[in-house]
Amino acid sequence: SPLEQQLKDLDSFQVIAHRGASGHAPESSMAALELAHEWGADYLELDIQMTSDGELVAFHDDTLERTSNGEGHINDYTLAELKDLDTGSWFNDAYPDQVDDAFVGAEILTLEEIFNRFGQDARYYLETKSPQLNPGVEAALVKRLEAFDMIDTGRVLIQSFAQESLLTIHELNDKIPLIQLVWYYPSEEDDERLVEWTGVTPGPQEITDEDFQAVAEYAVGMGTNFIYEGEEVIDAAFIQKAQENGLPVHIYTINETDEMQRLLDWGVSGLFTDYPDRLIKLTE
Ligand code: G3P
Ligand code: CA
Repeated sequence: SPLEQQLKDLDSFQVIAHRGASGHAPESSMAALELAHEWGADYLELDIQMTSDGELVAFHDDTLERTSNGEGHINDYTLAELKDLDTGSWFNDAYPDQVDDAFVGAEILTLEEIFNRFGQDARYYLETKSPQLNPGVEAALVKRLEAFDMIDTGRVLIQSFAQESLLTIHELNDKIPLIQLVWYYPSEEDDERLVEWTGVTPGPQEITDEDFQAVAEYAVGMGTNFIYEGEEVIDAAFIQKAQENGLPVHIYTINETDEMQRLLDWGVSGLFTDYPDRLIKLTE
């Protein structure tokens, strides 16, 4: 079945376009998604948040300031209010060498708009972002995935840092493949590797087969950072151990070619990148 095929594809290397080709166009904009799709990324990665009137939109930050001309918390606004914002001009200001007038006035996108554009021609790697700020986001998301027939057709992965959010998704529909995100950092005191609250407690140096198996109970893979403040927090052994426990490892967010190559040499299962073009070139 297409869903089985999607799971099988996770055994080979996956190019995950982080917020679209967000190194080339404003993150989570149609322009960024179009580029990633055109270049043949395996997944379009998007962070999903909920508006005050219950619509789902693709937007990373909890607040509007960095990537729009609005201010305050995204979930305090209706979709109509958010649609009036310009989510493209900030990119031209931030990246003067990549200015494109077409980005000016880019609208925040609903998940429906994205599905209507790419439909069954793409795969989507959707994050329930800040679930504590977006109560009900899981039910709203599953409803839309079912309405657009994205699950049985093997089109979607759901990722979250919050284990609880992933478990809620599975209560609603246990066929949806899940990715557990973790965020590792070295503690300043004893330099042991710790993990920020996700529900997966041990750090990468201490994690056991049993810990990986506990994740494999509900998830089909893990997503982790690579670097924290200049220091590498995972190594090739972590990736191998996860894989031996049936968990492919996808690493975020890798933009430099030399880092991509090192992680490829380590046998990583996929990379989140703002530059899917660079990564595709490297894997060809
Ligand atoms: O979802 C993987 C990666 O995107 C997690 O970090 O902050 O970019 O959503 P963030
Ligand atoms: Ca994300």
